[in-house]
Amino acid sequence: MGLQHDYPWVKAPVLIGAPMRLISLAPLAVAVSHAGGLGFIGAGTEVHDLDAHLQEASRLIRETPVVGSAADVLPIGVGFINWGADFDTTVRTLEKYKPAAVWFFAPYKNADLVQWTEEISNATQGNTKIWVQVGSVHDAVEVARLCRPDVIVAQGSDAGGHGLERGAGIITLLPEIADALKHEGFEDTSVVAAGGVVEGRGVAACLALGSEGVVMGTRFLASTEATIAAGYQRAVVRAKDGGINTVRSKVYDTLRGTTGWPERIGGRGIINQSFLDAKDGKVTKENMDAYAEALKKGDDGWDENGRLTTYAGTGVGLIDRIKPAAAIMKEIRRQVMDIELRTSKRQSRI
Ligand SMILES: Cc1cc2nc3c(=O)[nH]c(=O)nc-3n(C[C@H](O)[C@H](O)[C@H](O)COP(=O)(O)O)c2cc1C
Repeated sequence: MGLQHDYPWVKAPVLIGAPMRLISLAPLAVAVSHAGGLGFIGAGTEVHDLDAHLQEASRLIRETPVVGSAADVLPIGVGFINWGADFDTTVRTLEKYKPAAVWFFAPYKNADLVQWTEEISNATQGNTKIWVQVGSVHDAVEVARLCRPDVIVAQGSDAGGHGLERGAGIITLLPEIADALKHEGFEDTSVVAAGGVVEGRGVAACLALGSEGVVMGTRFLASTEATIAAGYQRAVVRAKDGGINTVRSKVYDTLRGTTGWPERIGGRGIINQSFLDAKDGKVTKENMDAYAEALKKGDDGWDENGRLTTYAGTGVGLIDRIKPAAAIMKEIRRQVMDIELRTSKRQSRI
């Protein structure tokens, strides 16, 4: 049981690449798994091209195998946004490729996940483990009762991209979820943290909280393998003071027309001119037109006074460089080891 049992190639501490729709595709997901983590492709709501993404991932893994992974399982995961993803296409495609894990997020109601869990587990003979990302203790317990996932991802309010509009940070959310699951008899369910972690100190803190692994999305936006515009990446590296300069809002979805999300969910992104205009009462049509104009500017649409959506978490201020995923993970592991060493030296002096 546990992550290192189910994904035998992963190294401690277990670092997980979040499924980020349109951004975390085969190159990033495979790079994270090659570096001893578990990478997720972000299928999101669009599954029509999932076969192509998984085919590419399979090819990359055939070329450079993930050492320690089983031959009949693809050593990456795939994340779905359940309210919008087509169920039948998903099950058919997963049956063909058998990824090591699926990640569910944002169903209209948690009960919708029962069918997803049962049919995917059957179609992959249990080879594909079930992960569910939640943002509250209530949802963690309800999901555990309904579909007994292998892993609960505790998504704190610092997380980039979509998440609950009202919620706690992982420092309180993760231990309360772990306690509640234990209390309900679900102590076998692994719990991992997501939201605001971009370097070794955050990872070490999550491990101290009892997290079995740590998910990072925003950090991997500034990786060389992310499928992302250079202007977006530059905006992530430029942003500082993430609590002030990012915001969770529905404005970005409205302007892009990516509507349909459950009411209680908003997207956290770097504050830009679109958000400021919406806050000042600029009518949506005018703001949408300005957004469409900004799109024509390409990378410059993310410049200092840019308007284009820049989903990212509060951890942006700690990111100062674009690097390969493997280098990011190596550096984090070294930082965690240093912290553990310092902590044990301090304790031995007491
Ligand atoms: C650009 C971006 C896109 C995201 N897309 C998805 C997605 O498609 N599905 C999903 O479950 N979570 C998505 N997330 C949220 C992540 O799963 C995760 O909760 C988050 O990245 C963790 O916080 P961090 O960004 O501070 O590391 C996205 C996050 C970002 C930053």
